[in-house]
Order: sequence, then structure tokens, then C-alpha cells
Amino acid sequence: MELQRTTTGEYTLYIPSMDETYHSRNGAISESKHVFLREGMDRTAGNISILEIGFGTGLNALLTAQHAAADSRKVYFHTLEPFQVPFDLVEKIGYGDISNDPTLFSQLHEADWESKTRINEYFTLLKTTQKLEYITLEDEAYDVIYFDAFAPKKQPELWSTDIFAKLYKATKPNGVLTTYSAAGQLKRDLKAAGYTIQNPPGANGKREMTVAIKP
Ligand SMILES: C[S@@+](CC[C@H](N)C(=O)[O-])C[C@H]1O[C@@H](n2cnc3c(N)ncnc32)[C@H](O)[C@@H]1O
Repeated sequence: MELQRTTTGEYTLYIPSMDETYHSRNGAISESKHVFLREGMDRTAGNISILEIGFGTGLNALLTAQHAAADSRKVYFHTLEPFQVPFDLVEKIGYGDISNDPTLFSQLHEADWESKTRINEYFTLLKTTQKLEYITLEDEAYDVIYFDAFAPKKQPELWSTDIFAKLYKATKPNGVLTTYSAAGQLKRDLKAAGYTIQNPPGANGKREMTVAIKP
């Protein structure tokens, strides 16, 4: 794992053996805000539960916590991460400074695994090391699912009909699953699971992304 600059100047992480980055090479923060906040959290109102697939650098968690506080909305944020980012890279990636809240960024990373941590009035975090394939999720527990796995070609086992059936059961009625991908197979699999599909423009000039809504 190594640091890589995006075209907008901030860092993301790059895994040479997979030839895969953690975020869009054309902007990590802009992607996270567009795909997960605007097309995910902002489609709901009030206090909500979010499930994230892939805590990774903690960028989505950080921006969501800031957004929750700005809107006075309480968010319960459950995130899965079986492969933790080494601490030295978390320190170097700089998202705390860029977002003007290094304390919040550290709190998210320092929170214990496998237990709920009240970060502040608006944000409660549960980080778990379980893999998405094996975790049992509560039925109709989440208003929003941030599906931020590595790309379908890089990690096909996470983009399967079984996984989307499991996530559908865990989504509340009217809840949404949002992801940066707009792959044809993904759309068919989400539809087969029961979701209604929308394809708004993606982040950083990408033609499409996918939002799946549970009727
Ligand atoms: C695209 S990155 C996520 C970026 C992250 N949301 C962020 O804000 O930095 C994909 C993440 O999924 C995690 N992951 C890999 N296999 C997984 C699995 N089986 N279950 C859940 N997460 C997994 C990776 O370790 C990685 O952190």
C-alpha cells in the first residue's frame, strides 16, 4: 500500500499488486462527497443508520461525521474493514488537516474495534473487522449503504447476487445503496435483489454511478 496523489492534489492509497486505488484518481474528497453524501446520505432525512463497506482511510466516515454535525442529524455509522490501513499511512494521508478537523479524524481511527463509540452528539461509530461475505446483518437496519468495495473486476466476490440479496434485506424500506460503479452486471444484480435503480452522473466527470432504492 502506498500514498498516491489524485489530480486534485490530495492523497489516496494505491495497492500495486491489485493496481487499485482507494478513491477516484481524479479526486478522493470530491468523489466521497458526491457518491456517498450527495447521492446517499442527502437522499434521506433526520437521524439515520449507515452501513459502509470498507472503512479504509476513514475518509467517508470523516466527511459523513462533519456533514451530520453541520445538519444536526444523528448518524449511527457501522463500517466493515478486515484489512486495516497501517497507522503510518493514516498519519501521512492528511485528511484531518484538509478537512480542518485532525482531532475528529484521529478519533475515528483510534476508536475501538467491535464496540460502539460515541464520537460526538451527532456521530456514533461501530468498526468491525468482519468480512462482508461472512457477516450477519440485522434485517431492515440501515437507511443508507455506502458500497465502497474495490472495483468489480478487482474483487468480484463482493459484487455478487448473494451479497446484494443480503444487503437488500438489511436495507430499510425507502433506504438507498449508493456506489461509484455503473457496471451493467451490477445494475442487473441489484435489480434482481429487489432494488429500483437510478444512474445519476458520477463523480469527477464520470458518466454514471448507481443508486439502488428499496421500494
Ligand atoms: C475502495 S476501498 C474503501 C475506501 C474507504 N471507504 C475510504 O473512505 O477510504 C475498499 C475497502 O474495502 C475493504 N475490503 C476488502 N475486502 C473486504 C471484505 N471482504 N469485506 C469488507 N471490506 C473489505 C478494503 O480493505 C478497503 O478498505
